[in-house]
Amino acid sequence: MNRDDFEILKKNIVYFDNGATTLKPNVVRNSILKYYDEYTANAHRGDYKTSAIVDSLYEEAREKVANFINAKEKSEIVFTSGTTNSMNMIIFGYFKHYLKEGDEVLITLSEHASNIVPWFMLEKEIGIKLRYIDLDENHEVSIDNVKKAITDKTKVISIAMTTNVVGDTRPIKEISKLAHDNDILMVVDAAQGIAHSRIDVQDMNIDFMAFSGHKMYGPTGIGVLYGKFDLLDKVKPFNYGGGMNAMFTKDGYVELREIPTRLEGGTPNIEGVLGLSAAISYIEEIGIDKINKYEKELRRYLISELDKLDFIDVYNREVDTSIVAFNIKGVFAQDTAVYLDKYNICVRAGNHCAKILDNELNISNTVRISLSFYNNKEEIDLLINVLKNSENIWKEIL
Ligand code: ALA
Repeated sequence: MNRDDFEILKKNIVYFDNGATTLKPNVVRNSILKYYDEYTANAHRGDYKTSAIVDSLYEEAREKVANFINAKEKSEIVFTSGTTNSMNMIIFGYFKHYLKEGDEVLITLSEHASNIVPWFMLEKEIGIKLRYIDLDENHEVSIDNVKKAITDKTKVISIAMTTNVVGDTRPIKEISKLAHDNDILMVVDAAQGIAHSRIDVQDMNIDFMAFSGHKMYGPTGIGVLYGKFDLLDKVKPFNYGGGMNAMFTKDGYVELREIPTRLEGGTPNIEGVLGLSAAISYIEEIGIDKINKYEKELRRYLISELDKLDFIDVYNREVDTSIVAFNIKGVFAQDTAVYLDKYNICVRAGNHCAKILDNELNISNTVRISLSFYNNKEEIDLLINVLKNSENIWKEIL
C-alpha cells in the first residue's frame, strides 16, 4: 500500500523494523524542506511574516495531534522529544510531587525501559513501590490479573498500549475503568500503538499518554505528552528558560506561562513538529482503520508462512498486531539478523529495550519483525525463502 510515497523503498530493501522507527513518506520530508526553504523562523517569538506562518503551522500541528487522539482541547498536547522524554516529564514532573512513600505503581514485565527505569528511580527517590501485574500464559494482561494486582495503596497503572516485543494490545478502556473506579490514574505508553490503531483518549479515559513522532512516519526527535488539562496543569516544568515564562524580575520573581507553553521551554523542535503534522495528515488520508486491518491480515499471512517452517519458534503467535517475535531454533537472534541483512531484510534482534521480559518468555533474545502498511506479501515470501535457505547460515555470516 502507498509504497511509491517512500523514496527509500525504491532501493532494494525490505524494511521490517517499523517498531524501531518507521520510514518517512515524501510529504513529511517535503514539509521539513519547505520550512527551511520558504519560512525559516523561530516559533512564537517573531513579528514578521514568515514567523507568523511558523506560529500558525506550529499551533495547527498541536490541533492536529489533539484531533488525532481526540483530546478535549489542544492545550492538553505538549511537544516533547519523544516517548522517553514524555514519560520522564510525567514521572518526575508530576508523580514525584504527588505520590508518597508506600504508594504503589502497577506496570508489567513487558514494558519498554522508558516505562520502567524512571519509575525505578522514583522508587529510590521517594519510596514508592513498583509492582508488576501478572501476565497470562500468552504474556498478555488480563482484567482479572489487573484486579488481583490492585491494592488500597495503588495510585497509578502505567502500561503500554501495545508492547514492543510481544506486540499485544491491552484492553486500555477496560483497565482504565477499573483504575478510575479505584481512584487510580491511568498512564499509557502509546509508542507502539499510535501508528497502528485508533486511540481516543476521552473514550479510553486516559490521564496521561506518551508517544513518538518517528514511529508514526514522522521525524525523530519529536514526541507528544498528552495529559488531561487539570493534571497537565500540575506538571512541573523540566526546562526553565525562554518561551515558557511570561515575565521575571532581577530579584527572582518568575511568572510562568499557561500550559502547554510552560512545558515547552527553549526553542522547540519546529521541523519535528511540522514533520509530525504532515505525518498525521498522511495517516489520516490513508485511514488508520484501513491500516489496522491491512497490517493484521499481513501478520496473519506471515504467521501462517512461518508455521510451515519447523525450524522456527514463534513466541507471540496469538497476538493480533503487527509484531512477530521468533528465532531460528539453535541460532542466536543477532546472527539471524545479520544473515537476513545479507539479503537486505531489516529486522531487529535482541531484547528490544524490554530487558526484564526474559523472566517471562524464558528467552532473552528474539528476532522481531514489525510490519507496516507498506510491507506486502511479496516481501514476506522473500523472507520465507531466505529463511528456508538458512541451513548454511554460519558460512554466510562468518
Ligand atoms: N523502542 C524501539 C523498539 O522497540 C526502539 O525497537
